[in-house]
Amino acid sequence: MFDFKYYTPTKVVFGKGTESKVAELIKEFGGKKVLIHYGGGSVIRSGLMKKVTDTLDEAGISYVSLGGAVPNPRLGLVREGIELCKKENIDFLLAVGGGSAIDSAKAIGYGVFNEGDVWDFYDYKRQAKGCLPLGVILTIAATGSEMSDSSVITKEEGLVKRGYSSDFGRAKFAIMNPELTMTLPDYQTSCGCTDIMMHTMERYFSNGGHMELTDSLAEGLLRTVKENAKILVKDPKNYDARAEVMWAGSLAHNGLTGCGSDGGDWMTHKLEHELGGLYDVAHGAGLAAIWGSWARYVYKDCLPRFKRFAIKVMDVPEVGTDEEIALKGIEAVEDFYREINMPTNLRELGVNATEEDMKVMAHKCAVGVNGGKGSAKFLKEEDMFAIFKAAK
Ligand code: NZQ
Ligand code: ZN
Repeated sequence: MFDFKYYTPTKVVFGKGTESKVAELIKEFGGKKVLIHYGGGSVIRSGLMKKVTDTLDEAGISYVSLGGAVPNPRLGLVREGIELCKKENIDFLLAVGGGSAIDSAKAIGYGVFNEGDVWDFYDYKRQAKGCLPLGVILTIAATGSEMSDSSVITKEEGLVKRGYSSDFGRAKFAIMNPELTMTLPDYQTSCGCTDIMMHTMERYFSNGGHMELTDSLAEGLLRTVKENAKILVKDPKNYDARAEVMWAGSLAHNGLTGCGSDGGDWMTHKLEHELGGLYDVAHGAGLAAIWGSWARYVYKDCLPRFKRFAIKVMDVPEVGTDEEIALKGIEAVEDFYREINMPTNLRELGVNATEEDMKVMAHKCAVGVNGGKGSAKFLKEEDMFAIFKAAK
């Protein structure tokens, strides 16, 4: 077991109608003038935005709004948000939406608080010294950005998608009402479930340091999301299933399921970020499309974990060699993806990548991880290329 730091300062307010607490919470954390940041308009169509602005109006909290955070949120809008905040003397950010709106808000917060170009943080050139305080009303259970220290932004020039992690970016509060996720398209619900599981799987498939309690929490979380994702395919309005998945989303990425490990593998995410950057695919679907190829490429180097995962999470009987059990576990994950209508390769993802595209993605990915990365198996550029090719 490795030493670890566990820091989750976000106040979670969970349950039906909790969006009505937003003004109270902003006041509690000292917000006087708020930038409400959101995505492409689902929060307006659902009526959530009106509820939020009515609540702020009643409480006498002034605000300005900035929509337009797209999936794989763009640096251009972040820069626009930074200028707007400076012009309007904004002292608090409220992200209403999913990972894209939240990540974009975090980036705006870094840009307002710190001098210089905000992309420097995503380009690993320097560290932020702070961030404007941020609150979240979550509308999709997926990224865990509501409790995570990460923000993922795409720079238009060269379509470079990069993540930046800092405790300064952790939200002060997160309002999570599972009912708000009921307007999601089914595809996005499944993308979210895939992402949630993957955040825990990235931490689970490692060769360095394990803790029995962490493993049991991770396996419980994975089983819970797997079962409830299947329920939601048939019964999307099931409140309890939505609630299970929503809370799992936060716990999957707030650090809890990585305590005692070496930090995990994270190469499936790094490979997906190239797909998201180049083809603008939904993050969860991109993960599903690449995971099987990654797993088959690395499992022999992380066999005990793949075997344990197969038995404890995917219900594979303990019969046959370790390799056979591990491979059955990988197949069971792909069967699960098919059951929730997720892709298991690039073609099903709708991506027709040429060999040249794959070379470019592998190269950008290798640069993004400083040459190589991975704990299940350390991957270099040629390995990344081989995995993209296998995923075709
Ligand atoms: O933009 P709107 O109109 O709101 O529509 C969104 C969007 O089209 C829609 N949606 C969200 N809530 C809805 C809804 N539609 C109807 N009803 C609702 N209640 O769903 C679509 C996806 O939303 P988005 O915010 O893009 O999804 P997600 O939460 O999956 O975020 C994806 C982004 O987060 C990054 C991903 O790479 C991607 O850029 N990630 C962020 C992480 C983090 N900060 O910790 C970690 C992740 O691994 C991930 O990389
Ligand atoms: Zn993710």
